[in-house]
Amino acid sequence: MNVKIKKNSQDWATGKVILITGGASGIGEAATIRFSMAGAKVAIVDINETAGKNLVLRVNNSGGEAIFIKTDVTKSDDVQNMVAETVKQFGALDFAFNNAGVEGKMGVAAAELAEEDWGRILSINLTAVWRCMKHELQHMVVNGGGVIVNTSSTAGLASAVNSGAAYCASKHGVIGLTKTAAKEYKAHNIRINAICPGGVNTPLLQRTTGGADISAIMEANPGLIATPEDVVEAVVWLFSQSSSIVNGHALLLDNGMMA
Ligand SMILES: NC(=O)c1ccc[n+]([C@@H]2O[C@H](COP(=O)([O-])OP(=O)(O)OC[C@H]3O[C@@H](n4cnc5c(N)ncnc54)[C@H](O)[C@@H]3O)[C@@H](O)[C@H]2O)c1
Repeated sequence: MNVKIKKNSQDWATGKVILITGGASGIGEAATIRFSMAGAKVAIVDINETAGKNLVLRVNNSGGEAIFIKTDVTKSDDVQNMVAETVKQFGALDFAFNNAGVEGKMGVAAAELAEEDWGRILSINLTAVWRCMKHELQHMVVNGGGVIVNTSSTAGLASAVNSGAAYCASKHGVIGLTKTAAKEYKAHNIRINAICPGGVNTPLLQRTTGGADISAIMEANPGLIATPEDVVEAVVWLFSQSSSIVNGHALLLDNGMMA
C-alpha cells in the first residue's frame, strides 16, 4: 500500500515506543503508519526485510520515527534481540502489538492436514505470540508497566472451516494466552488484550481468496471486509488510557458478523 502518509502528533502517542510484529504488511503496516504519524517511535519487526526497510523510509521521510528489526518470530534468539534492540535504540518499550501471522491451509479438513502444516501454523500464530510476550513482559515488569495487544481473529472465537483447524486452534490459543497472562501481570501495571478481526483487506486475505477482486467485493458488500486502518483504530484505543479498565479482553472487530 502506498497511500500518502502525514504526521499529526497526538498526546497518547507522543514519545511512546511501540514494537509491531508483522509490522511491514497489512494490519501491521497500517499500525506502523498510524502510530508513527501520531508521534510514537515504532520498531517494525518482520521477516520481510525489503518491505520493512521500505516502510522505514516512508515513515522517516514523512516526519515519523521508525526502525526495522529483521526477526523471525519463531526463533528465540531473534525475539530476544527484537526487544533488546528496540530498548537500545529507543530507550524503552511501552507498547507491543504481537500481530505477525500466516493464513491456514485453505479448505483442507482436519484429518487431511499435514503434520508439518499444523506445526508451522501453530508455531507462527500461537507459540511465537507467547515467545514475544515472554521477552516483552520481562522488560515491562522491570520497567513498571506497559500494554500488549495480540492479534487473534473471529477464528479465535468460533469454527473457521475455510481457514482450517490449525489456524482456528492457533487463534483460539491466542485468546487463552491473552486472558491468562492479563491476570498474571495485572499487578505489574501491564494490560494485555486481543483483537478478533473478521475479513480485512490485506495481502493475507488476497492470498486466501484466489485472486478475487477484494475492492469490488467491498464495494458490493459494505461492511463485509474491513480496511486495515479500521482495525488499527481499535488497536489505538486498546493502547490508549481510554481503555484503562479493559484487560484480558478479546475485542471482536467484525461489523456484527458473529452477532
Ligand atoms: N486479513 C485478515 O482478514 C485477517 C483477519 C483476522 C486476523 N488476521 C490476523 O492479522 C494478522 C496480520 O495479518 P495481515 O492480514 O495483516 O497479513 P499480512 O500477510 O499482510 O501481514 C503479516 C505479516 O507478518 C509477517 N510474518 C509472517 N511470518 C513471520 C515470522 N515468522 N516472523 C516475523 N514476521 C512474520 C509477514 O512478513 C507480514 O509482513 C495475522 O495474525 C492474521 O492472522 C487477519
